[in-house]
Amino acid sequence: MKIRILLVSVALLALCVIPGFAQQKAGSPADSRNPADFIVNHYAARSQFVAGAISRADLDTILQAGINAPSAMNRQPWHFTVVQTQALAKKMVNDIDEGSVLIIISAAKSDNSIVLDCGLATESIYLAAQALGYGSRIYTGPINNINKNLKADLGLPRDYSAVALVRIGKVKAGVDAVSAASKRSKVEDKVNFK
Ligand SMILES: Cc1cc2nc3c(=O)[nH]c(=O)nc-3n(C[C@H](O)[C@H](O)[C@H](O)COP(=O)(O)O)c2cc1C
Repeated sequence: MKIRILLVSVALLALCVIPGFAQQKAGSPADSRNPADFIVNHYAARSQFVAGAISRADLDTILQAGINAPSAMNRQPWHFTVVQTQALAKKMVNDIDEGSVLIIISAAKSDNSIVLDCGLATESIYLAAQALGYGSRIYTGPINNINKNLKADLGLPRDYSAVALVRIGKVKAGVDAVSAASKRSKVEDKVNFK
């Protein structure tokens, strides 16, 4: 498990030092890929999800990635709620597959830093899941419904509100960012150097 945590950490670090990667086909098993692939080549699974269990060891690694996310002044303002009960998960994502989980990221306040902190934890969870070979997708669409109707069912800490959720599950074999991700902008359209 330590090796997996290390791989995810190296992948996050690589984002800072590798200036630009084209979207490339990553056909090999997750563990033999360049660590930067986990960050550069990802996609938001939806129709690609299939039924199948997530191991407890992998779930722990994914949660550790969220716990280890950076935050302003290291406040770590988040709480993570893992939803494994299908009936409850369906109230948030109605087409969720058997064995998939939802991780709700919540916080007590929502100033700019806290929203950003929670966004970073969300991204770390999203990427860690894909680094381990699962599909993942970030959702904010269900957040209003969660905060209005489901806080008690979810057992969110007192005064916390949901900020985002990540859906994680098994995906069809052979799906990758090349086959599944939407088109992205060109680097030259989004970046300037001075
Ligand atoms: C902050 C945020 C909120 C999102 N909310 C939703 C959502 O409510 N429903 C949904 O289907 N996808 C949602 N997505 C997924 C995006 O639509 C997806 O990441 C984007 O279209 C890129 O997809 P791709 O990587 O597969 O090309 C969200 C993504 C982000 C980053």
